[in-house]
Amino acid sequence: MDNDIEKVLYSRDEIAGAAKRLGKELTRDYAGRQPLVISVLKGAILFTVDVLKEFDVYADIDFVDVSSYHGGTESSGKVDLVREISSDIKGRDIILVEDIIDTGRTLKYLIQLLEEKGAHDVKVCTLLDKPEGRVVDVKADYVGFNVPNEFVVGYGLDYNELYRNLPYVGILKPSVYQK
Ligand code: XMP
Ligand code: MG
Repeated sequence: MDNDIEKVLYSRDEIAGAAKRLGKELTRDYAGRQPLVISVLKGAILFTVDVLKEFDVYADIDFVDVSSYHGGTESSGKVDLVREISSDIKGRDIILVEDIIDTGRTLKYLIQLLEEKGAHDVKVCTLLDKPEGRVVDVKADYVGFNVPNEFVVGYGLDYNELYRNLPYVGILKPSVYQK
């Protein structure tokens, strides 16, 4: 897999440091509350695990699965709910954990969904933020890194469902999409 990567943007150690920092910030901010952590499948799985290991607060954990890319490198513009949230959202403080915020459409869709279900508060923790990609106006509350406007893979992020198991985040070689 390493041969398909043009450039490593964030190493395993840098990512571990960011997850630790965010887990500690969340611990401080959520002390005395019992939030519901919702991890956005599949991209946020590795990041969620690493943040949770540093999150020292009573919390329940759930998952939601949404899809907007359908295998390519450009957002289709339409967000589909692939797996519903099973927990009761009403009155809850929610921490949404994402891999990356790009156009912002996924996040906007999820925030609206949670508000419709009666969430008391929704905060967003994302490994990566790509501000130049933004099409709708949303922002993350906890950010690991701001990324340049490139398609990135690794540490949960995929191209055609591959590369999620790379321990770092990097830019794919263009020759990989042109295959
Ligand atoms: P939007 O555009 O809705 O994107 O903010 C959010 C979701 O799209 C995926 N995404 C990416 N996946 N490399 C990836 O592997 C990228 O550069 C990228 N940009 C967006 C991702 O699943 C995210 O949750
Ligand atoms: Mg995602």
